[in-house]
Amino acid sequence: MNLVLGVSGSVAAYRSADLARELMRAGFVVRVCLTDAAEKFVTQALFEALTGQPCLTSAFDEPVAGRMAHIDWARSADVILVAPATANTLNKLAAGIADDMLTTLVLASEAPLVIAPAMNPHMYGSEVTRNSLDELRARAASIVEPLEGDVACGEQGQGKLASISAIVDAVREITARSAKLAGKTVLITSGPTREPLDSVRFLSNRSSGKMGSALARAVMLMGGQATLVCGPGSARPPLGAQVVRVETALDMLEAARGLAQRADLIVGAAAVADYRPEQSAHGKIRRSSEPIELRLVPNPDVIAELGKVAKPGVRIVGFAAEPDSALDAARQKIVRKGLFAIAVNNVSRPDAGFDVDSNELSLLFADGRTARSGLQSKLSCALWLLEQIVDSP
Ligand code: CTP
Repeated sequence: MNLVLGVSGSVAAYRSADLARELMRAGFVVRVCLTDAAEKFVTQALFEALTGQPCLTSAFDEPVAGRMAHIDWARSADVILVAPATANTLNKLAAGIADDMLTTLVLASEAPLVIAPAMNPHMYGSEVTRNSLDELRARAASIVEPLEGDVACGEQGQGKLASISAIVDAVREITARSAKLAGKTVLITSGPTREPLDSVRFLSNRSSGKMGSALARAVMLMGGQATLVCGPGSARPPLGAQVVRVETALDMLEAARGLAQRADLIVGAAAVADYRPEQSAHGKIRRSSEPIELRLVPNPDVIAELGKVAKPGVRIVGFAAEPDSALDAARQKIVRKGLFAIAVNNVSRPDAGFDVDSNELSLLFADGRTARSGLQSKLSCALWLLEQIVDSP
């Protein structure tokens, strides 16, 4: 496994040498990238001698002629660890600033990110740093919290680099997760559907597709290939996912049915419209003073239909948007739709469900087990959910 160790300019940079050795003992090929400030504390020569690999320091370093190192390293990294992460580097990573080799490399990479901050306790506790940590966590970075104690500047508080074993454990945990769907294809239905009334109007719902996109990103963080069949939501699918765009429930079924036969896991996160207008008028229905009647006919149950064509033994997971916390209706859906499990979100909560960035799931398994995610970003919820499914007996 290839690990890029980014070292930024904290006094704790001297401990990165031991950290690099421990990671090598744990089986990683370690390549180090230093920021300018890190070079005030430790040297390129030290890490090159320790790791037997080139150590990058400047944004234009190119150890292999003609191959841009920031792209080369970004692509080949299985995990990126920034330890120690100073306030400056951490805040830059959260904001997407790429003004040196380390921040450029992180921005260019899809690899999971582990960050071990070390800084003055006031810098760590400041609102801007807290917001950056929230932002990084929402993108599923693993933060190895600094310890309380005496820091180099003479103050007391939280800011000391975590222990080397805690950092190595966090890296191990994240790389174990990134193998859990290796070689697997996961089909996800996502977003709303639109059921046309005429050429300019449609029936739809408030789904944004954010949970489906988060699931696709989570699949990729777990080493799998994500196939997203998505309705017209606002959420941007992650780079690297296979995306099939559809409009109506019937389109969704047709597209997903073809893909379901190759899927190793199927997740129905779409808010499929249960009904469609029996007839969709060509052109525009004109205004008149008379009431009009709309006759709706039921749409197929996409997830239940996919169960009929999926490979034997494939786990099918549904979502249930319930208007209250009662779980009985969701339990019935497990049976009715032939699901392995169903993730229930209570859409009456302002911080969970439709069109927000956080979610809280209750997961009900067909065998009666239950689990709860707690309130987390949609990406963290998606990772939690997929791990629950993959780790289930
Ligand atoms: N679903 C589907 N096709 C439909 C309706 C729902 O694939 N026509 C899937 C959703 O993607 C979700 C699960 O079924 O994974 C549950 O969706 P939900 O809307 O909660 O259930 P419904 O079957 O629509 O039941 P109700 O409207 O009575 O709650």
